[in-house]
Order: sequence, then structure tokens, then C-alpha cells
Amino acid sequence: MNEMNRREFVLATVGGLGLVGTPQLITAFRQTSDRLAPPPQGMHVRHDVYCLNPTGREIRSYMKAVQVMRSRPATDPTSWAAQAAIHGTTAPIAGMITNRCQHGTRFFLSWHRMFLYYFERIVRTACGDPAFALPYWGYTPTGHRALPIPFRIPPSPANPLYGAGRNAAVNAGHPLFPSIVDAGAALAQLSFDSFFSLTLEGTPHGAVHVAVGGWMGLIPTAAQDPIFWLHHANIDRLWDVWIASDSGRADPTDTPWLTTSYEFYDETGARVSLTGADVLDAARQLRYRYAPDDCGQGVARGFDKLALRRLTKLLMDPRMLAAEDSLGRRPPLATPPPPAEAQGPVSLGSAPVEARVEVSTEIRRLLASFPTEATAGRRLAVSLENIRVEGQASVFYELYVDLPPGVKDTVYTSPHYLGNLDFFGEPPLQRRFNLVPTFLRLRQLKAWSDETLRLTFVPRPFTEGEDPAKLLGTRTQAVVGRVSLRIE
Ligand code: C2O
Repeated sequence: MNEMNRREFVLATVGGLGLVGTPQLITAFRQTSDRLAPPPQGMHVRHDVYCLNPTGREIRSYMKAVQVMRSRPATDPTSWAAQAAIHGTTAPIAGMITNRCQHGTRFFLSWHRMFLYYFERIVRTACGDPAFALPYWGYTPTGHRALPIPFRIPPSPANPLYGAGRNAAVNAGHPLFPSIVDAGAALAQLSFDSFFSLTLEGTPHGAVHVAVGGWMGLIPTAAQDPIFWLHHANIDRLWDVWIASDSGRADPTDTPWLTTSYEFYDETGARVSLTGADVLDAARQLRYRYAPDDCGQGVARGFDKLALRRLTKLLMDPRMLAAEDSLGRRPPLATPPPPAEAQGPVSLGSAPVEARVEVSTEIRRLLASFPTEATAGRRLAVSLENIRVEGQASVFYELYVDLPPGVKDTVYTSPHYLGNLDFFGEPPLQRRFNLVPTFLRLRQLKAWSDETLRLTFVPRPFTEGEDPAKLLGTRTQAVVGRVSLRIE
């Protein structure tokens, strides 16, 4: 198991069974592996692109398909343009399936799974390689994080996988900033709706989109970049990893989620549709699975292993786990108190900024017995609304809660870390963060402040080793219209 896998599984098993210690973690890993039984006939195996030969069969097949599909007219449903337009386009062709992507909704994961499934079938036909399976972009904070080689070398339009509009540092092979690619916070969520899907959609999903930039940075063009599909294969894989981590993690079972139907095109260009119920078990229903590849990734330079160990220990405290685990099964508050809000909008530039939220007496009263008393509610969230991005994003922000006075900077493995603010989507954006894990950690460390929630936005570059001040200068990157603390 490489470092990231270990962290994924550490974080993914901290969810409520109180699993502590190595044997349990190994069991958790084995359970995941066993679930991935050897492929029966007709099963397609999606591999980590970092483990593939950059000039091997899979990559060559994909290159060929991109070329073939790009040569088809946009009116052909199996063309590159038509496939990308299903996701988003500013020039929809009348009568065709366009602009259907699901973001910020609970259909985010299921819709993109369906989208990839038919795309992969179209690719198979286009390149004439019936064994083709979409590789996944297996970035990890402690290992490979650079744009995979075939997508940037050679850096020429003759390379169908190259995208000239991407951030220059990304195309130059600089590793993405570690917190952009860390799925740990998402995998640690226990409930699909609050907040696994949303957390994963933010990081790594949205953060990687914006970090790659170019087509990838905007919904209407994202699927034109060949790396889009590998990025989404990884997001799809992480959904599998989350489910396999158990501790009560489960997909939605309500009728709307299971039966809402979405349209796509198959490899013959025919209109087809799928529902949530059709894609719950990818291996059984869609005949593909993910290889738990490990290409001997090293630990990144400067990665704070000690901090990670400390955080892991905190996350695995059995009392905390038991408390958090009970939340998902509770009803929300019948009459939640009004949210506590920061005064006015928050302008984000190239220096860390702190927003202060005065916590109302009512919320404080509820928090005093949260989460042990069911009457204290089940959701505790930080909500950012009406986010406006100025120009193209050149940095993102890490969010920290109640940093000790004087501390302006830290690393995301700190117990104060809440999540990342990415800028993927149509403005005005809004983001919600599950505050429960951070709140429990800080309270246990006696670092939670009752009266005021201080939220620090720390600017970070998309790729390691760059300086936000140089990237952004004195410009404002974004304005967050409303910052609030909610208990529900
Ligand atoms: Cu629908 Cu990653 O975008």
C-alpha cells in the first residue's frame, strides 16, 4: 500500500466503527481488495494512468480515438464535440443532448458515471480496441501529482492529448499542490448527502479542474480536454473506494435518486438512458472495475508525515468516532436557529484573510451538547455563498478554523483544516463544508472558541513551489458574499 492508499484507508475507516490500529486497517484494505474479484469475461479494468506505459496500448488507443472522434462532425453524436457538449457547451446544436452535467446536486456522481460509461464505449469503437478501458488519473498528495506524461509530452498540437490552454506550470509537469488532490476529507464523510458527494465534488474534483485550467477550468469546455475523462474516472473510482470503506457508508435509496433518468448516446449514435439504480454497482451492471494499482509512488518532498500521523490519531479517537457516527441517523432540527454570519463580504487576495463569525447564544447552546444530544441537531456546516471570481483563477484557498492567534499559515494536515475553496462552476458559486470533524477535533484539543468562529482563507498556488503573491499580485481573486455557520 502506498502512502496515499494508506491515508485513504485510514481516513476511510475512521468513520464510526472505532477501528483503531493496524490489523483493522489491513482488514479494511483486504475487504476492498476482495470486493475487486478477478475480472470475469467481458469485464473492463480501468488502470491508474501513472502505472501505464506512456506509449503503451491503452494510451495509443485513446490517442487514436481522440483523433477519430475529433474528425467527426459536431452533428455526429459520437464526435468529440458532441460528447463534450453533453457535459457543456456555449453553442448547443438544436435537437442534440447538450448541457446536462450535474454539479452541486446529489446526481453529480451518478450522472458522471453514466457519462463516462457511454463515452468509454464510443472510444472503444472509435479506436477499434475492444479491450480499451479508460485509465484513471491516480493523483495522490504524497505521490504522483503532475499531469501524466502523455498529456503534456510532446507539447504540440500534433499530440491529441495535449491542451495548449492549460496552466503553463501544469503543462510543464509541475506537481499539483498536495491539498488539491487529497480525497481524505471526502472519504472520511459518513453520509452521501451530508457531505460525501459535495466534499468530493469540491476536492479533488473542482480543485483539479481549476488547477489544470484552460478547457478544464470551465464547465462549458471541460470535457474537451482529454484529461477530463481520466480525472472523472478517478472521481468515479473514489466513489467505489468510499462505499467499500463501509462504516455505514451507503448510496441514496430514495426514489428520485434511483429513478431519475438521464439521456446519452451510445456508440451507434442512438439515444439511450440510464438511472441511478442502473449504475449502483459498476462491476456488475456496467462491467468495469478499477485496478487498485500502486506504482511504487514515493512520498512527496516536504510532506509532513508527522502532522499526518497526529491528525490520523485524532481522527481515530473512538469517542469522537462514536459521536460522529450517530449523526447520520438523526432527523434534522425541526426549527433550526438562524445561521450566524460574518459581517459583510470577504475579499480574497494574495494574503491570508480572516472572517469572523459571532456565534449566537442559541447556536452556542446547541453546540454545548453537540453531537451527544440528538436534540442538538445533526448538521454543522460552514456555508460560503454568492462567491464571485474576478477573471481567471490563478490561486485557490485553503480554509482553516480558529487558527491560534498569530498563526497565519499552516499545512492542511493541521487539525484546524476545513477544506478548499475551489472556483469550478457557474458564478455566483456557493460551497458548503461539513464542520463536524473539525469542530470535534478542535473541541477535543481545547482549541475551539465558543464565541467567535474564525475562518482563515489561505491562498495557495495550483502547483507546488509557486508564490501566490507573484501569481496574483495585488489583484482580488474572489469575493465571498456571505460566510455563515449553520446548525440544522
Ligand atoms: Cu461535470 Cu468535472 O465536471
